[in-house]
Amino acid sequence: MTSARRIAVYPGSFDPVHEGHLDIMRRCKPLFDEVVVAVLENEEKAALFSVEERVEMISEILGDDPIFTARSFSGLLVDYVESLGARAIIRGLRAVSDFEYEFQMALMNRRLDPNIETVFLTPREEYSFVSSRLVKEVFRLGGDLTGLVPQPVLDRLQERLRPNGAKV
Ligand code: PNS
Repeated sequence: MTSARRIAVYPGSFDPVHEGHLDIMRRCKPLFDEVVVAVLENEEKAALFSVEERVEMISEILGDDPIFTARSFSGLLVDYVESLGARAIIRGLRAVSDFEYEFQMALMNRRLDPNIETVFLTPREEYSFVSSRLVKEVFRLGGDLTGLVPQPVLDRLQERLRPNGAKV
């Protein structure tokens, strides 16, 4: 008898991906056979990196680990999850302040598709304050992000925000 593959989708903006996100991805590894890291194509939200760049960075960082793939999606998340034959949505919970927004989304997604479960994972405490917004702000202002974002992201931030080593 073969059991169904456990596929999870880890959706987000990932603008850019940081160590808190990567910690969540690592925690998915023993729980699922396949994890699709799904970058939302959101025209309303002004992003620093294009969706293609974000998918590319995540793919580069995850390397050739066969359980992970990075892709983009548009439309309703539950439709995308369903189209992959997945049953789980992964979300990271850093602190109580994340809870209200996440709880609302989880319940709305359940209302839209009761077959899909949201699974909350918590990152290591040392990443609990890290967000993509703060990463961009700190980098822009010349702060040190060592240990908070992987090298490919630092390189891209450098190219985008401090061409010629200049602060912007
Ligand atoms: O990293 P983010 O910006 O907090 O991720 C938010 C995301 C992508 C998970 C959410 O905006 C989403 O799922 N958007 C897709 C559209 C959708 O399904 N909206 C209803 C969600 S309740």
